[in-house]
Amino acid sequence: MRIVAVMNYKGGVGKTTLTANLGAVAASRGLRVLLVDLDPQTNLTFSFFTIDDWHDQLKDHRTIRQWYGAEIPGRDISLADLVVTPKRVNEALKNTTGQLDLIASHLGLIDIDLELAARLGGTTTLDGSKRRFLDLHGCLRHAFEDENFSEYDLVLIDCAPNFGLVTKTAIAASEHILVPAKADYLSTLGLDYLVGNCAALVQQFNDYVNHKPETSGHRPIDPAFLGVVFTMVQIYSQQVTLAQHTYIEEVRQNSRVPVLESRIRNSPRHFGDAGESGIPAMLSASGKDEVVREFDQLADEVLGALTLSAGGHR
Ligand SMILES: Nc1ncnc2c1ncn2[C@@H]1O[C@H](COP(=O)(O)OP(=O)(O)O)[C@@H](O)[C@H]1O
Ligand SMILES: [Mg+2]
Repeated sequence: MRIVAVMNYKGGVGKTTLTANLGAVAASRGLRVLLVDLDPQTNLTFSFFTIDDWHDQLKDHRTIRQWYGAEIPGRDISLADLVVTPKRVNEALKNTTGQLDLIASHLGLIDIDLELAARLGGTTTLDGSKRRFLDLHGCLRHAFEDENFSEYDLVLIDCAPNFGLVTKTAIAASEHILVPAKADYLSTLGLDYLVGNCAALVQQFNDYVNHKPETSGHRPIDPAFLGVVFTMVQIYSQQVTLAQHTYIEEVRQNSRVPVLESRIRNSPRHFGDAGESGIPAMLSASGKDEVVREFDQLADEVLGALTLSAGGHR
């Protein structure tokens, strides 16, 4: 099982679109994929479920909000019990051996995120507060160790555009981080800041683990940046526009995050209806479309870096 956090501080850069479509392409290649929606905006969830179905089937008992809502997340309810198999997309995958499952989000996750952060301060001894830090930040990682998750080849976590505690649990749980970005100033501005904040989290977590390795109950973490994938890239006459090309090269040369070779073009025709059909666009679009080829290339690049090929390595 490979766990990848998809994140960027900026909203609207294509995180959710990329998570849904990359997950769907990986599943169409025969992999068992789990998508986790950790964004209170709930867009990934609504890419697979209608609002009515979410309301009737998921909202009160089966979203990540109920899980993070416990004193220590996972104490009251098991993460595996939240996994759902969305119908429409799996119907579209029925001629493959792949599967696409989801853990749904909830708009109320935003309040839980703040409550969780407040719980960090709840203990008085130094050892107690280190332990609390590790238990809270390591909760998602710990939950994925459940054998129910070992059947998945790939877990993609769609993070909120912030560095709140819920996002930090995703970083701690992930071996890899994928950063979608638009090729413009604002979307690339926060990249080094993101790298710095991740490094600070890793250092603090590992310092606390190493302080009392036998009793901490946690192991050190070491998430690696897979890289930046540029999305919504403007192409004219088969070429990236000069302005965007300049940004991409600037990031390639100056940023601490590698830039993936694959990029995804701006294609409102494919991504304009943002998931109303319940089936990610890349599963239903014509294989002749350039953007389908781009997603295929991205899947090659990402799955290759994760050493995951069709049929899966677990
Ligand atoms: N490659 C693309 N071409 C055109 N529109 C896109 C593309 N990727 C995403 N979009 C659209 O841009 C908006 C923001 O994308 P989204 O994936 O929701 O971003 P984020 O999750 O980072 O906030 C959505 O309306 C989505 O449909
Ligand atoms: Mg999103």
